[in-house]
Amino acid sequence: MNEKMNEQLASFGVVPVVVLNDAKDARPLAKALVEGGLAVAEVTFRTDAAEESIRIMTDAYPEMLVGAGTVLTVEQVDRAVAAGAKFIVSPGFDPEIVDYCIGKNIPVYPGTVTPSEVAQAVKRGLSVCKFFPAEQFGGVSTIKALAAPYTTVKFMPTGGVNLKNLRDYLSCDKIAACGGTWMVKGDMIKEGRFDEIRQITKEAAEIVKEVRG
Ligand code: 3PG
Repeated sequence: MNEKMNEQLASFGVVPVVVLNDAKDARPLAKALVEGGLAVAEVTFRTDAAEESIRIMTDAYPEMLVGAGTVLTVEQVDRAVAAGAKFIVSPGFDPEIVDYCIGKNIPVYPGTVTPSEVAQAVKRGLSVCKFFPAEQFGGVSTIKALAAPYTTVKFMPTGGVNLKNLRDYLSCDKIAACGGTWMVKGDMIKEGRFDEIRQITKEAAEIVKEVRG
């Protein structure tokens, strides 16, 4: 399942997790990410501005890979996809959301942090799952242990990933891509510090190149 999208996400290596309070920031933010070398974003449905932000980003930068995060209902799946989202991310494993996405051929990345959750994903043919909150659940060492019996699965850790530990995460061959907010922090967006966002994004993209070649 999701093979093409899995490859695209892995080729970016890092997926900025974007929380936008105001859709007016969507365009300059997308510009900063694209110019920083990561034309990809997971826009979270934690805020009301998510749907409109996805629409603005995909209209302004059609080449950008924009997905929806913190998707908690099938209704949000529909809204996200209608707005232009190309993939769906959930913090946990909700079978209703996963099955709905699979049924509609929408790439879906549910959160899995236990063998039982990974088993449910494997049963449905998924080969990349979110791993959230990554640092609190033991980071790279837990991912390695979890991946040992489930050899077909790779993970997309988010939660506590940053420039300091990014190399460790990216060095693990069981990790498809890392997600995080460190390059798109709320105060940077609120204060319009898009040059800084572009710079940190660039640093992240350079680390991906350095570790993965
Ligand atoms: C997510 O939604 O995936 C996480 O909240 C991102 O975690 P971070 O803010 O620690 O990067």
